[in-house]
Amino acid sequence: MEPLGATTVFFVICVSCLLFLSAWRKLSGSGKLPPGPVAFPIIGNTLQLNKRNLPQSIHELSVKYGPIFTIYLGSLRVVVLYGQEAVKEALIDQGDEFSGRGKLALADKLAKGTGIIFSNGERWKQLRRFALTTLRNFGMGKKSVEERIQEEACFLVERLRNTHERPFDPTIPLTHAVSNIICSIVFGDRFDYEDQKFLTLINLTEENNELFRSLLAQLYNFFPTLMDYIPGPHQLLIKNSEEFKRFVLERMKMHKESLDLSCPRDFIDAFLIKMEQEQQNDQSEFNTENLVRSTLDLFLAGTGTTSTTLRHGLLILLKYPDIEEKVHEEIDHVIGRSRSPCMADRSQMPYTDAVIHEIQRFINLVPLNVPHAVTRDTHFRQYVIPKGTTIFPVLQSVLGDSREFPKPEQFNPGHFLDENGAFRKSDFFIPFSAGKRICVGEALARMELFLLLTTILQNFTLKSPIDSKDIDIAPLPSIAVNAPKPYQLCVLPR
Ligand code: HEM
Repeated sequence: MEPLGATTVFFVICVSCLLFLSAWRKLSGSGKLPPGPVAFPIIGNTLQLNKRNLPQSIHELSVKYGPIFTIYLGSLRVVVLYGQEAVKEALIDQGDEFSGRGKLALADKLAKGTGIIFSNGERWKQLRRFALTTLRNFGMGKKSVEERIQEEACFLVERLRNTHERPFDPTIPLTHAVSNIICSIVFGDRFDYEDQKFLTLINLTEENNELFRSLLAQLYNFFPTLMDYIPGPHQLLIKNSEEFKRFVLERMKMHKESLDLSCPRDFIDAFLIKMEQEQQNDQSEFNTENLVRSTLDLFLAGTGTTSTTLRHGLLILLKYPDIEEKVHEEIDHVIGRSRSPCMADRSQMPYTDAVIHEIQRFINLVPLNVPHAVTRDTHFRQYVIPKGTTIFPVLQSVLGDSREFPKPEQFNPGHFLDENGAFRKSDFFIPFSAGKRICVGEALARMELFLLLTTILQNFTLKSPIDSKDIDIAPLPSIAVNAPKPYQLCVLPR
């Protein structure tokens, strides 16, 4: 029995390898699927890809295979779009077809296709439209979003002042401040910097970002079924996410108890009212599951991204004190020291605006973009991409294009300034992506970055405890969000 069993297994493996390779060749060779490295059954291109630095592996493959190629993460087929032309053609010119959300096993496990970020089809359309309108309405409500950010910026300045010029890690203060802004929109209130329960949640968002970078969490995306049985950081990530869910459920319950149907206070109220209005509609996507996940989407996407960008930004300014000095000069000239920065100042501050754009370009926060998928069989250039195929429209390939940004690997605000020092717009500036899935929080994030950064620099000079030439501003690579290496800084009142 034994030898026969082994032979049978060997035979089955050989036949499936041959079938797979022949199907692969047929699809890529006849001008159907884009080309790519040879993939093996089940493990796909796992051996050829650097799991710790997938963006780098993808860059290297683009040199060999050009702007459109196919890779396999385990058994998941992914078509990669590399370079401004391919990304723009897909996301803008063929926007509908490329508007699906692609699979990423860990995200599927956490979101289960609910909410805004990881949903598809009618559910995504309804929830995205609702989120955009609601964010806009609260921007026009009693207290504008601009006022909410200005208020939080003042709290942050006080918090930073309390460090008394001693070195500190800015992660938690920045995350807490940014989180409070989205909290005031979704939960109706900010949380005090001493609030222990909320601090636990903030720590969990940070912990999750780190866990996401771990090798095992990356491997989850390649071999989800297997990884479900293996202990490790990916299991903690899943457990932490349950904690977030509990927090939102608790808030939802509190909102239900004090809901006034005629006067929504925040995103949760607006969603509860919509649920009430659509009770009789069978097609409605406004239910408790989607409420919890959409709220979490806004809370998590609205916290980690902007605060990590600010953290990178402060580190870059520590590295280049001459750039910080020029921003200080512009702040003193346009805003002065006696009033809070406001959005109207930005158009008169081309240098600061260019520095913020360059921070976002240089740090390449979401290097591979959030995966997309094609919503139907799609003709793209000379290829046909089957419905449902996951697509990586790679943002780093556009933000790092040397035709638009000479020496893209260097930090240079001049990338966004013309010869007269005026701000220069660029079509290649797409850190928020482009097309139908473009970031829902772009306007909010841009306001936060401008107001928080200028308020910090209006009040403080940054000082590094180590020599600026020893500061390493290269991001820690990730398949999700590129974070800066941990660092400390001192803030000296001006
Ligand atoms: C610097 C800050 C930010 C950056 C760089 C950023 C970047 C991105 C990127 C690259 C995507 C994927 C777009 C695509 O699939 O093509 C995205 C999606 C999204 N972002 Fe942001 N984001 C930021 C801040 C925010 C904020 C503050 C919020 C909350 C209000 C937010 C909410 C979302 C949501 C809900 C989506 C999913 C959109 C969809 O699937 O339709 N983001 N963001």
